[in-house]
Amino acid sequence: MSFRQTSWRHWENSLNIAQALALSSSLERNSDSARLDAEVLLAFVLDKNREYLYTWPEKILTLSQQSKFRLLIEKRKQGQPIAYLIGQKEFWSLTLTVSDATIIPRPDTERLVELALELKGEDALTALDLGTGTGAIALALAHERNNWQIIAVDNHAPALMLAEENKRLLKIANVQTLLSDWFCEVDEHFDLIVSNPPYIDEMDEHLQQGDVRFEPRSALVASERGLGDIMAIAEQSRSYLNKAGLLLFEHGSQQAEEVRAVLNRFGYDAVTTFQDYSHNDRVTGGYWHG
Ligand SMILES: C[S@@+](CC[C@H](N)C(=O)[O-])C[C@H]1O[C@@H](n2cnc3c(N)ncnc32)[C@H](O)[C@@H]1O
Repeated sequence: MSFRQTSWRHWENSLNIAQALALSSSLERNSDSARLDAEVLLAFVLDKNREYLYTWPEKILTLSQQSKFRLLIEKRKQGQPIAYLIGQKEFWSLTLTVSDATIIPRPDTERLVELALELKGEDALTALDLGTGTGAIALALAHERNNWQIIAVDNHAPALMLAEENKRLLKIANVQTLLSDWFCEVDEHFDLIVSNPPYIDEMDEHLQQGDVRFEPRSALVASERGLGDIMAIAEQSRSYLNKAGLLLFEHGSQQAEEVRAVLNRFGYDAVTTFQDYSHNDRVTGGYWHG
């Protein structure tokens, strides 16, 4: 029997790692990374790394491992994101726990982290991460700058619990989580405010595609063609930024001009858009001088 011929009817029999992986072919219609998906899921079920799968291809799976793997493959066939299935995602070299309480952190957002670090340097400062979700941005900044004091805000309690759990697992001390509808519960001032807020237009067709279908709408969609939260944050940040404080947003690649217009309208200085690694306009910021 070739690996290609391996089929679901073999589940109840002894199935080794190589044969289980061959089942990735059944994912091919649903995922363009079928083999990789199967490897990640099987490594997760076995609690090993992917190299292990190639070192021990003849190792037989227990019945419990078979049924867990089968369930995960079925969920992946329905389109569920790999990160939600294994409950983890790498971000800025940190392994974050993820759940459908908030979005899966994106590699694009690492650009926002990189820019905040570059633009604010290494001096001690206070920072605010608005809409922290898993805590990705706040925890990455805190990991790089242990002299920064960071408050991480979300208005969705299950998301904030994730951020708190990630902070605990990563043993990061200089982040404090806060349940708040943007600035409602915030009463400090900051040298830096960063945000990857909801910025997708509710009519955007991407909401019906890929992993995004499984992520909470409240974390993705904003009014005013996606600009509603950016406008609210830009307006209110003026009351919470220290002199020469920096406000930095991630936004959609088509929104840069409008986000610059919002920041200019509210009186920010040196308003600038930065590109991501694919040369798309994805981050815009400005300084507040009062
Ligand atoms: C696009 S996600 C970003 C999550 C995380 N910062 C990241 O980059 O992966 C936006 C987050 O903003 C939160 N959010 C939405 N509206 C909010 C509000 N009014 N106040 C506070 N947080 C809000 C959502 O719960 C969600 O976790």
